[in-house]
Amino acid sequence: MSAPPVPGGFRRATPFTLESDGQRFDGAMALVAAPPAELEAAALGELAPDEAQLLTERLAPARRHSLLAGRRAAKDALGLLAPELDRRDIHVLPGLFGQPVVTMPGRANVQVTLAHAGQAALALAHPEACPMGVDLERFVPAHLGALREQTTAREREAVRVAMPGDEGQQLLLLWSLKEALSKALRTGLTVPFALLETTHLSPVPGGVTAQFANFAQYEGIAFAAAPFVAAVARPRLALWPARDGNTLPVRLRDWLGALATLG
Ligand SMILES: CC(C)(COP(=O)(O)OP(=O)(O)OC[C@H]1O[C@@H](n2cnc3c(N)ncnc32)[C@H](O)[C@@H]1OP(=O)(O)O)[C@@H](O)C(=O)NCCC(=O)NCCS
Repeated sequence: MSAPPVPGGFRRATPFTLESDGQRFDGAMALVAAPPAELEAAALGELAPDEAQLLTERLAPARRHSLLAGRRAAKDALGLLAPELDRRDIHVLPGLFGQPVVTMPGRANVQVTLAHAGQAALALAHPEACPMGVDLERFVPAHLGALREQTTAREREAVRVAMPGDEGQQLLLLWSLKEALSKALRTGLTVPFALLETTHLSPVPGGVTAQFANFAQYEGIAFAAAPFVAAVARPRLALWPARDGNTLPVRLRDWLGALATLG
């Protein structure tokens, strides 16, 4: 079933900073949603020629749309880090594992992680030195059983305590945290789900933070605003500066809430 249209679209972007032991990591995040016709009309001014070649005749319409929405979000985020560049000078192409690989003139070691759900896409640009992953999901009731199967009893109990409420949202939150981690690791979901197990879930307004049983070096944060869930995985040592009042997670939570009101 295709996602309902997004009236008027949605487009937000913000820079952010992470700090670790005196080192500073600058990144940017963008969340977009737009109907296919708008993205198609803008594609010529958005895509580098090698990116445009990804839009082959064989692509299903939904995949074509997600590819365009994802590139828009990626370039909104990357563009904040390199505002002097034309969007067509920023190249986001799939690596051998499908992972997005960024090249842009004058900037080395900047990468992006991205996700799409329905008409929406979330992207987070980050220095290669600070590997990160994001996920964005839209709840589909038919997936409830599969979501349940990919969790342990311990995880289900932990998320029930950390975020009491709808089971679908709880399970999607766990899924999303794992998928965000899998992108930071560049494996995607090719590894056994159990390897990505979450632990130490703690409530935060609108969502949870989590650690990972087998990847103690990462920490996750995820927010739910039905029907959407979004998650970010980042190195545990890289902290949001206290002076910013947790700017990025709070923005993500608020944007997700705003996106959810569009349907
Ligand atoms: C990564 C993965 C979990 C994404 O799941 P999804 O629900 O289909 O899609 P999402 O919208 O959440 O994310 C898609 C984005 O993840 C990114 N991605 C894909 N593979 C990735 C990987 N191995 N590592 C990090 N990011 C990856 C891409 O940017 C992709 O968007 P794009 O193709 O438009 O650039 C899934 O594609 C996967 O498990 N891939 C594993 C690698 C694989 O099997 N590749 C097949 C070719 S060898």
